[in-house]
Order: sequence, then structure tokens, then C-alpha cells
Amino acid sequence: MSSEHTSIQPRPLLIAIDGPVGAGKSSISDEVARRLGILHLDTGAMYRAAGLYVQRLGLDPHDQAASEAAVSQAEISVRYADGAQQTLLNGEDVTGLIRTPEVSDAASAVSKHPGVRAQLVAAQRKLAESTPMLMDGRDIGTVVLKDAPVKIYLTASAEARAQRRLLQYREQGEEHTFEEVLKAVNARDYQDMHREADPLRQAEDAVVVDSSDLSFDETVDAILALVRTAMQKEALHV
Ligand code: DC
Repeated sequence: MSSEHTSIQPRPLLIAIDGPVGAGKSSISDEVARRLGILHLDTGAMYRAAGLYVQRLGLDPHDQAASEAAVSQAEISVRYADGAQQTLLNGEDVTGLIRTPEVSDAASAVSKHPGVRAQLVAAQRKLAESTPMLMDGRDIGTVVLKDAPVKIYLTASAEARAQRRLLQYREQGEEHTFEEVLKAVNARDYQDMHREADPLRQAEDAVVVDSSDLSFDETVDAILALVRTAMQKEALHV
């Protein structure tokens, strides 16, 4: 083949977004993906489905052997309806069922087990094999998509994240004190950053976006600007 015919094939645009709880990863990721016309995979939803499964079987989600054995028998997958992710557990749509505080706790416990992580990381990589997508989680830039051309560590001060969470609670008619919520945010950060398997940390090549003093739209725009810069540097397709 002559050199005229050898051209660099554009690779799919993959965006990794990691960060602590309450930094707005989910809603920001949804909007960035929508604006770019690519899929958004919320990987936390898959850990939540695993937590729900273990909980339904009446097992202790902290029991590593029992959780790993159970989850290995479960089929955890996603599908998209009008661009929105639906999370499936053995074919059942559990999208709405995985947002309870009980499932949050079970998800947090099962996500510590290396066997559960290996299974879900493999499924996440497979989804991104041929499709441009934005993935958000805790270990996307460091483990799942180590070669992603765009890596973002989306964070905000613990105080800013607690303040936002407090407002969400108020909208839901729940009353909490700022101190209570701040304590929970700090505890969750500690758990996510100090677990043995794939702890939350910033990838060396990730760009930090600190949304403490940014509005939702400003945060989306900051991330879109980083994506556009990456797309100018390298051939990436959406
Ligand atoms: O983002 P979330 O709260 O929906 O995540 C649910 C749980 O799963 C949370 O305890 C963190 C964990 N998780 C993880 O360990 N790795 C990911 N890539 C995503 C979430």
C-alpha cells in the first residue's frame, strides 16, 4: 500500500470523569454527553445494581466471598432509551429501584470487593470498545479507560458539596443541618479514597475542574472547552 493510503484512523471520543460524591458528576456528565451527542455511562448505577442483587438475596454486602459469588451469577447491563441510561439486573429494569439509601449502602459495600470490580470494569470496557462515550465514576481515568483522550477530575470543596446536598434535601422536604451533611460528605470521601481496591484518586493526566465557585452551566462549558481542545489535538470521532 502506498503511503498516500495510510492515514491515521480517528479513534472514538472517550471521556473519563471521576470525582468525589456530590461534585455533580452525574448531572454534569449527562449534559456534557447530550451536548456532544454521545452516550453517558453512569458506572455507579452498575455498582448499585450489584448492591441491590446482594441485598435481595439476603446476603451481607460486606461479605466478600458471598458477594463476589452472587454477583458473578448476575447479569448487570445497561440500555439507552432516548439517550437516557436504563440499568438492568438480570433483564429487569431497576433504574428507579437503585436510588434508595439502603441500596447506596449496599453498593458502597460491594464496590470494595475486587471480584465485583473486575466483573463490572470488564463490562464497562466492553461497552466503550466501539462507541464514543462519556463514563463517570471513581476509577475511570485510573483503571477503566486508562487511555481515554480526555480525563477530568471534577471536584468541589467539601463545604460547597455539602451546601448543594443540603439544598437537594430541602427540595425533597427533608431537614438536615449543614454540619450533619458536611460530616457525611467527609466520611464518604474518606471511604472512597481509602479503600484498597481502586480507590478514588486523580489520574496523573487528568485535568482538575473545581466547581466550588462555578454554576452548572459554567462547569459544563469548562468541560466542553477541554473536550474541544483535545479534539483539535487528536483525531477523535463522535
Ligand atoms: O456514584 P454512585 O453514588 O452512584 O456510586 C455508587 C457506589 O459505587 C459508591 O459507593 C461508589 C461506587 N463506585 C465505584 O466504586 N466505582 C465506580 N466507578 C462508580 C461507583
